[in-house]
Amino acid sequence: MTVNDVLTVHGGTPLHGRIRVRGAKNLVSKAMVAALLGDAPSRLYDVPRIRDVEVVRGLLEIHGVRVSDGDDEGELILDPANVESATTDEINVHAGSSRIPILFCGPLLHRLGHAFIPDLGGCHIGPRPIDFHIQALRQFGAVVDKAPEGMHLTAPNGLHGTKLELPYPSVGATEQVLLTAVMAEGVTELRNAAVEPEIIDLICVLQKMGAIIKVHTDRVIEIQGVPRLGGYTHRPIPDRIEAASWAAAALATGGDIEVLGAEQVDMMTFLNVFRSVGGAYEVTDMRPPRNGSPGQEGKIRFWHPGGELKAVALETDVHPGFMTDWQQPLVVALTQARGLSIVHETVYEQRLGYTEALNSMGATIQVYRDCLGGTPCRFGRRDFKHSAVIAGPSKLHAADLVIPDLRAGFSHLIAALAAEGTSRVYGVDLINRGYEDFEAKLAALGAHAERS
Ligand code: EPU
Repeated sequence: MTVNDVLTVHGGTPLHGRIRVRGAKNLVSKAMVAALLGDAPSRLYDVPRIRDVEVVRGLLEIHGVRVSDGDDEGELILDPANVESATTDEINVHAGSSRIPILFCGPLLHRLGHAFIPDLGGCHIGPRPIDFHIQALRQFGAVVDKAPEGMHLTAPNGLHGTKLELPYPSVGATEQVLLTAVMAEGVTELRNAAVEPEIIDLICVLQKMGAIIKVHTDRVIEIQGVPRLGGYTHRPIPDRIEAASWAAAALATGGDIEVLGAEQVDMMTFLNVFRSVGGAYEVTDMRPPRNGSPGQEGKIRFWHPGGELKAVALETDVHPGFMTDWQQPLVVALTQARGLSIVHETVYEQRLGYTEALNSMGATIQVYRDCLGGTPCRFGRRDFKHSAVIAGPSKLHAADLVIPDLRAGFSHLIAALAAEGTSRVYGVDLINRGYEDFEAKLAALGAHAERS
């Protein structure tokens, strides 16, 4: 954290206005990795200027991929014509900065026959093991050597299709399998796969490149390996996590925010909860230009309609459940709801630590080891505080806050904006990992916040 990495937030002003979300962070970064597999350039639109994108760009560039900006704002061209090995020192510059490097395994093995993956980073929201990834790569025929400085991989006999079943529908492990299986020899069958919209969009990217991927019912994905892939041109799905974060900010501050680019289809579960809490929203569908009349961008307007917010019980889950990344911003709004809300976090075992900071601002949130309010989850018999009871409404007051991770960081920011008084939020640069231009967007929404 640098001395400038502090935002002074004068809270108590409802956020009003309009901001735009671009391509989903959790698709864009993976689509960039997919470009490595092609033998022709790829073109990706609507890429947000966020740090995770910079990390992937840096990793691609040291592996010989030419990454350049296209004519459109947010357009990236990725040319993998000269893919080459990078040194461990070059790769290690990116150690600890993101979890995406783990997804370079399959593509680098296909292109170079070997790969080195640095120590991973990402948010500290639980142990975040990579055992599913390693098990899958070994089944494809990779030899994986874990060393203190990172992970070395080779594929002495090539990569071959296989039958796999994930112990849990992990997003990253599903992507690992997809990015490896598309060019492995033979057929891969993946059971208990994650089917998040970002994964389906990655499948669309790979299909554009020439892959053959069938998504069956019951989380089964079948991939027929092909010997070569080309480039793609793709416009990613919008960032539904960012859209929900601004929606929660509108509700918590009593404001009204129009989120341009947001789409209903992948936010249905969030919208149901938003309405149950007492929030209002209005969806405007995208309209293509027709007969000389200009088109219209899709958007969702989220606002607090006045009156009291209502407590809810919710459980985070894999798609189509309530996303774990929607949880932290929404909990700030739940501190303003009358009654007892229950949040059962079933995806990550340690994603409620940030509630302590909310309590220091006047919220009343208790966390429990038990599975509250819903079906028992895999953390229930273990020692993780993964259920929260939020008693509201609570008047929030200003505090000094230190940002622990990306989504919790945004929730701290919302809490500071909703609170009376002046808060100092330390470590705000972390928010740039996943929220493009968030300070400019805050200013556009009338927030009073400045770097100190
Ligand atoms: N897991 C294992 N072993 C593995 C892989 C995962 O036990 O080898 C466990 C994890 O510990 C976790 C669960 O499986 O308890 C789900 O993890 P998953 O692999 O699905 O998460 P991920 O791929 O590491 C992505 C997003 C996260 C998002 C989750 C769930 C990216 C870069 N990250 O993480 O996004 O929360 O899926 O949807 O796509 C964020 O954007 O802030 C963020 C954390």
